[in-house]
Formats: sequence, C-alpha cells, structure tokens
Amino acid sequence: MANKPLYKSLPDSKLERKRNIDIHFNHEQITIPESLKKFAKGKTYFIHTFGCQANYRDEEIMAGMLEKMGYTKSDDINSADFILLNTCAVRENAEQKVYGQIGNLKIVKEKDKTKIIALCGCMVQQKHVIETVIDKYKHVDLIFGTHNIDELPSMLEEVVLKKVRLVNVKSLPGDIRENLPSARLSKFKAFVNISYGCDKFCTYCIVPYTRGKERSRLMEDVINECKELRDAGYKEVTLLGQNVNAYGKDFKDGTSFAHLLEEVAKLGIPRVRFLTSHPWDFTEDMIDVIAKYPNIMKYIHLPVQSGNDEILRLMNRKYTSKTYKELVDKIRAKIPNIALSTDIIVGFPNETYEEFLDTVEMVNYVKYDSAFTFIYSPRKNTPAAEIKDNVTPAEKSKRFKELVKALEVTVGESSARMVNNTYDILVESVSEKDPTMMSGYTESNKLVHFKGDTSLIGEIVKVKINESHTYSLIGELVND
Ligand code: 5AD
Ligand code: SF4
Repeated sequence: MANKPLYKSLPDSKLERKRNIDIHFNHEQITIPESLKKFAKGKTYFIHTFGCQANYRDEEIMAGMLEKMGYTKSDDINSADFILLNTCAVRENAEQKVYGQIGNLKIVKEKDKTKIIALCGCMVQQKHVIETVIDKYKHVDLIFGTHNIDELPSMLEEVVLKKVRLVNVKSLPGDIRENLPSARLSKFKAFVNISYGCDKFCTYCIVPYTRGKERSRLMEDVINECKELRDAGYKEVTLLGQNVNAYGKDFKDGTSFAHLLEEVAKLGIPRVRFLTSHPWDFTEDMIDVIAKYPNIMKYIHLPVQSGNDEILRLMNRKYTSKTYKELVDKIRAKIPNIALSTDIIVGFPNETYEEFLDTVEMVNYVKYDSAFTFIYSPRKNTPAAEIKDNVTPAEKSKRFKELVKALEVTVGESSARMVNNTYDILVESVSEKDPTMMSGYTESNKLVHFKGDTSLIGEIVKVKINESHTYSLIGELVND
C-alpha cells in the first residue's frame, strides 16, 4: 500500500461548530460495486468499538455493509483481513487506549501487507489526531469520520483497488441515511437511533464537534425500525440520542420525544428504554408517558455532572442544583419506583473543594441507584480546555475517590432494598465469574446473577433476590 495519503476531506473544528445547515433524508438502498464483492469474497472483518452506544450502533451498520460486500465476521483481530477501530474522543484515556491498539496492529500488518487497517469514529474528527496517525502509524490505510460511514463501500474500493492511503473525514453531517444494512450485535436487545449529534455545547464536551448538529430521524422511520425489531422477537429496544428530549424539535411541527416514546411503547415491545435525557427540558409529558406504560422501563439516566451552580453555569448545563432537584422530586412523585442514574465529572477547571462537596450533597439528596463518574479531561478546541486550571491531578483523584465512596452508599442501599423481592430479568449471558450462573438486568438496570442455563439467554425470567453487593445482586429463578 502506498504511503502518501490522499486527502479527500479533513475536519475543521470551526466548521464543526456550524449549525445552520439543511438536513436531507435519503432512503435509497446502497449499492456494492461488483469489483469489491469479488475482492471481499472469502475474506473476514474485525471491528473494535470504543465508547458509547452511538458508536456500537455505527459498528452494526458498518458490519452490515461489510457483510453485504461478502466479508464474514471474525472474532480474532490478528487473523482478520479488514480491521476497523471505531474510536471515542470523549476523554483522554479513551484516546490512549486507541493509540495503544493502533500500535499493536503494526506487527500484524508487517506480517501480512495485504491486510487493510482502518480508523473511524469520533477521535478522527480531530485534525491533530489524523496528523499523528498519518505521521506515526504508517500501517493505517483508511481514515474516515462519523459523517460518512455510508461511504464505506466506495472508500474501501479506492483503498483496495487503487491502493491509496485514504483520509476522508467531513466536518459537516451529510444526509440522514435510512435503509443501510445492519448486522446487529444482539438477537434480543437493540439500539435504535432517534437523533444524531448534539446542540447543547456543554463547555467540556467534544461531542457537538465530532457528531455535529442535532438532527432527528423521521418518526415513521424510527417506528418502522422498532416494528421490525418487535416482529423479529426483540425483547428490548433502547431509543438513542445524545439528548433524547430534543427529539423532533428540529421539525418545528410540534413533534416531541414524549409522542415518539408513546408510539414506540404502544408497539408492545416488552422493554423500551431511552438514552440520554438532559435534565433541562425534561417535560411533564415525558414523565406522564413513562408513568403510563408498563413496558417503558422505570429507569432514567439523568446526567447531573455537578451539584454546584457556579460549576454548572461554567459547564453551560442550563439548570441549577435547585431545578435539578425539583425535576427529581417531580419524577419521583409521579413514578415512585423510578430508578435514577447519572454521570458526574469531578475536577472541572478551578473547582474548589466546597464546590465539589455540593456534588456529594447532590448524590446524597438524589440517592442514585447507579452512576458513572469521571475525572475532567480537557478536550482540545472545547471552551473549558482554554481555562487555566489550578486543581492538581492528585486533588482531583482524591475527590474522585470521595465521590465514589458516597455513591457506593446510595447504590449499595438501593441494591440492598431489592433483597427478598422478585424482579423480571432479561437474561444476557453466562456469568463471567461462574459458568454455572447466568447474568441479566432488571428493569432498573441492576446486574443480577442466578443459577440457570444458556437456554434462558434472551428470555425475560423472574428472579428472587437473595443477596446484594454494591454493583450486583445474587438471586434464584422463580417459576411463575
Ligand atoms: N471530561 C470528563 N468527562 C466527560 N464527559 C464528557 N466530556 C468529558 C470530559 N471532557 C462525560 C460526561 C458525559 C459522559 C458521557 O462523559 O459526564 O455525560
Ligand atoms: Fe456533550 Fe452536553 Fe451534548 Fe451531552 S448534552 S453530548 S455532555 S454537549
């Protein structure tokens, strides 16, 4: 493979900020060039996805296209003919993992030069990452971004047949592509995109740049996808958007997330979930719909990020600790059995210890059932990365530990309350620790292990909880 790259397009962080762009819907089926089918016949692909659910959904679509070309899936990165790393840029450590993995692939390529190595996803939406990869990792053949995964067949054709080293990362979203093939990772739970991108511009976050303008899929396209999943026997569907509350607002015709959620619930899929809700603009209608339908799981992921008003203001989160707590109270009043989870960032630039303690206070107020905690990681070209920070890494790490301790109490108490009760569990897999145990999740997203066999995978069963640990529960199957 030639080493001189062909730059079709390069991302520009200023352009990525642009929001006044027209969005078009494209329902055309993709076509696979015959030459590519001939090339892919008998060959295998391997995709390693880093990061969030949006990336996993992209993996399924890229896998669908590769399988349409004639590739078959391989579970072995070392022997696959086409290796794709689907990357995440949300924090520095996510990027470090990717660089480690790219480095490992050098020998793989040296052993067999016919292999094709590609990079895609959020990380390569940053020009400086592309420069590093092109410069230091000469074994990477193809780099493409989040806005043109639908061009995978034609890009691969160029790499394979014209033997170019190709960079094709766009700054702006293209069409919303429907009807792309998809090879789903699970036969019983599925993610369904309802919108792409984010317009919130939280000051620490890179997502509005890497994933672009917030844009909704047409309601009928979402509903049709959900119907297909229901008819194929899927037990759980998760509606996905960086901020699901904003669904439909871009149509300016009154379309709302509450309406979409209700229509999906009415399809009769046993479990309906949604991710992620912003605490700002979480409407009464949404609460009412969640309360009304038993098949909408009583679980809301409601990232708080911080419990301090000044930090929330600097983060551009658009709510205060008071309005967040009021929302929690309102949700709990209408849905008493709701489980709440959250994301929290510790050590935002210049956060004082007192400001941090407001976050601990928030944890103790809400008593979260689960939580994801992160140390702030500066992301190039985001506003927060410009702020000179006076908090040392050691101090951040100390606060992080203190926060985890506070969460262990509320999460542990929420798990302990479940003992002696019986819950529906969607069985996912054999337990990693004990092959005689099966593992699955409750409606509230708690991990449960119980004695059972693999025939239960993909089924919803009743399990009585006997024992609780902070992050998991042990139970036994109960016959109806
Ligand atoms: N540093 C640390 N955590 C971050 N998140 C987003 N950006 C950053 C960053 N720069 C966290 C937020 C978000 C979750 C997906 O990742 O908590 O909700
Ligand atoms: Fe990032 Fe904020 Fe958008 Fe979430 S809402 S993706 S944290 S900018």
